[in-house]
Amino acid sequence: MKDYFKHHPWHIIEEGFDPQYNKIAESVFSIGNGRMGQRANFEELYSGETLQGSYVAGVYYPDKTRVGWWKNGYPEYFAKVLNAPNWISVHLTVDNQPLDLAVCKVENFRRVLDMKTGLLSRQFIATFADGKRVKIHAQRFCSMAKGEAGAIRYAITPLNFSSAATLSLFIDADIINTDSNYDEKFWNEVYKHADEGQCVVTAETKKTFFHVCTGMRYKIYEGGKEINGSVNTELRDKFAGHVISVNLNEGAELVVYKYAAILSSENHPKDKLVENCKNLLKDLQNNGFDKLLAEHEAVWEHKWKDCDITIDGDIAAQQGIRFTIFQLTQTYTGEDERLNIGPKGFTGEKYGGSTYWDTEAYCLPFYLGTAEQKVARNLLVYRYKHLQKAIENATKLGFTDGAALYPMVTINGEECHNEWEITFEEIHRNGAIAYAIYDYIRYTDDKAYLAEYGLEVLVGISRFWAQRVNWSEDKKKFVMLGVTGPNEYENNVNNNWYTNYIATWTLRYTMEALAYVKDTDGNAYAKIISQTGFNESEIKAWQSIIEQMYFPEDRNRNVFLQQDGFLDKELIAVSAIKKNERPINQNWSWDRILRSCFIKQADVLQGLYFFEDEFDTEATKRNFDFYEPMTVHESSLSPCVHSILAAKLGYTEKAYEMYLRTARLDLDDYNNDTEDGCHITSMAGTWLSVIKGFGGMRVRDGKLQFQPFIPTQWNSYAFKIRFRNSVVRVEVDKTRVTATLDSGEPLEVIINGSGVMLR
Ligand code: BGC
Repeated sequence: MKDYFKHHPWHIIEEGFDPQYNKIAESVFSIGNGRMGQRANFEELYSGETLQGSYVAGVYYPDKTRVGWWKNGYPEYFAKVLNAPNWISVHLTVDNQPLDLAVCKVENFRRVLDMKTGLLSRQFIATFADGKRVKIHAQRFCSMAKGEAGAIRYAITPLNFSSAATLSLFIDADIINTDSNYDEKFWNEVYKHADEGQCVVTAETKKTFFHVCTGMRYKIYEGGKEINGSVNTELRDKFAGHVISVNLNEGAELVVYKYAAILSSENHPKDKLVENCKNLLKDLQNNGFDKLLAEHEAVWEHKWKDCDITIDGDIAAQQGIRFTIFQLTQTYTGEDERLNIGPKGFTGEKYGGSTYWDTEAYCLPFYLGTAEQKVARNLLVYRYKHLQKAIENATKLGFTDGAALYPMVTINGEECHNEWEITFEEIHRNGAIAYAIYDYIRYTDDKAYLAEYGLEVLVGISRFWAQRVNWSEDKKKFVMLGVTGPNEYENNVNNNWYTNYIATWTLRYTMEALAYVKDTDGNAYAKIISQTGFNESEIKAWQSIIEQMYFPEDRNRNVFLQQDGFLDKELIAVSAIKKNERPINQNWSWDRILRSCFIKQADVLQGLYFFEDEFDTEATKRNFDFYEPMTVHESSLSPCVHSILAAKLGYTEKAYEMYLRTARLDLDDYNNDTEDGCHITSMAGTWLSVIKGFGGMRVRDGKLQFQPFIPTQWNSYAFKIRFRNSVVRVEVDKTRVTATLDSGEPLEVIINGSGVMLR
């Protein structure tokens, strides 16, 4: 674990430049606005280790699958959100010496991400080989107010010299993805143009033919006066730029403003992209940096007003939780139902920017509790729009009659994952998509969602479960064979308890949803019946599965079993694994992992978390006590579930320990992998640990409930929760819990079992 960034309640701070941390810092200091994102790459040239990354939401490339042994049913490609044209560069050269932090001597380096305002800034003094010293102050943001805009203020002060210099400002679409399967470049040029103070490049993705038009405009000032140096235009393949000759005068600050517009054919007709890009650039320049920044900051202020969490007595925890809220909020804004949340968001290439069950199982509650209802709703609509593809996906695997299997990994609804044990077997993801509909409606009371979108999805998923089980003559029960549960350290198991449970739960919930829509909206019901070809006799089959499903149990210990045969394993605790063998996925053979009892992530416990009201606390306790010691938590999605359950069981120290596992996962590079990008979806788990774990927040019978405790390490904490038409603020200190209505309509909440009316 590294303690590299300085602790501060609102800022992430890097002091001093250490190239070995650069890629980690590039991930951590990433900025975005839901439409696009940018790693914290330097504006100036950098010849050291870097992972260049600019991303445009929804623009992907189907990279041909690479696999050792092809299996029928594998997807042909992995859809990757692409590394997009570079709009950030401002390259400075003084007397033929490029400003390059890998070459120059660097002093007073300070990089700060202000999470309150979403502004990234960097300051340093660099000394060139000939002794010339220059002070740089760079600031940039991806506008939360104008989703297609980025702006940079780059200030250069020569400290001990006056000299001619050049500035190279450009748009470069000659970009490669580090994770490209065949080292191919994914962009072709469609158009480029450079005229006075402006350059535009339109690039097209190969195979998918998305167009992204990236443009820049700039102005340069010295002492508040605009200067116009002589300009050379540089045009080459996929590249348009200007090289501007300027004079640097000792002690005088030269400021470059670079405005960028990034437009995609997802949002504009292809033939209008260039025109719209140029219009936006003009608008950005007319507004100017300060006004654009003020607009951007106002959006952040508005967002923070309803979702901040404060922690008194632990500044590292305060920074960690704000980082979580900041990252999740800038990754997904919910304005576009075609978009979703990749496990790395806009901070790296890993996981291809694609959608996983992480969204439904972990992220949805974050957006329900912190943003307007439509933000969470659009996450559900995204899956509704992919229903047809989910049906095709199931059909390819041999299922029939409208059965739907949602993909494990997707951008456009098609499956991208190509490991058989996950593609074909990790089918529990289908259950999470059904559960999210229930979770959303429980939280918002938007029951109309069922008739509009939800029911069709539920019917498709239920049909899949009904076909995926089979009758066991031996057990006289329905069984589900050949699956992988959330715990990916077991493959091809029979009767994974979690999968069997979520399957029967989905059938039950779909039956309730059908009855509800039939009763309340006969027309919608008739339409859905005819669209899906639903036959009420299907319900009979579902009922029989619900009644006769097999669930593996250990009757002696009175716990549910991960899967058939789990008790044949040697049951040993994680504490028996040698420290230098952890994480086991980096030190043990896969074979050894599969044979061991060690659990990658919450599995039975994931079920007890989702369906807690269907089990008594004693059952949760028995299962928690059995499984927690065998869980290695080698997925960052795991500790939050254990933290929430531990809190519920009164294991407060354990709850805190589990919360700590992800609270600063990226800030402290806990798993040595932050350089690939931040763990955006598991950040939702950190938030859940605080709100559902420590805060004990639940929604029951349409009411918001809290049962808080305070970790001994903290003096007090407070959080805001948006619930229906109200925002509630809950403060917890060592002696009491206070709930107030922060804004919106009066609301009754239940605190430690008693109802309180908030006005
Ligand atoms: C986890 C999955 C998760 C994926 C993406 C894997 O390591 O086991 O549950 O969906 O990462 O976050």
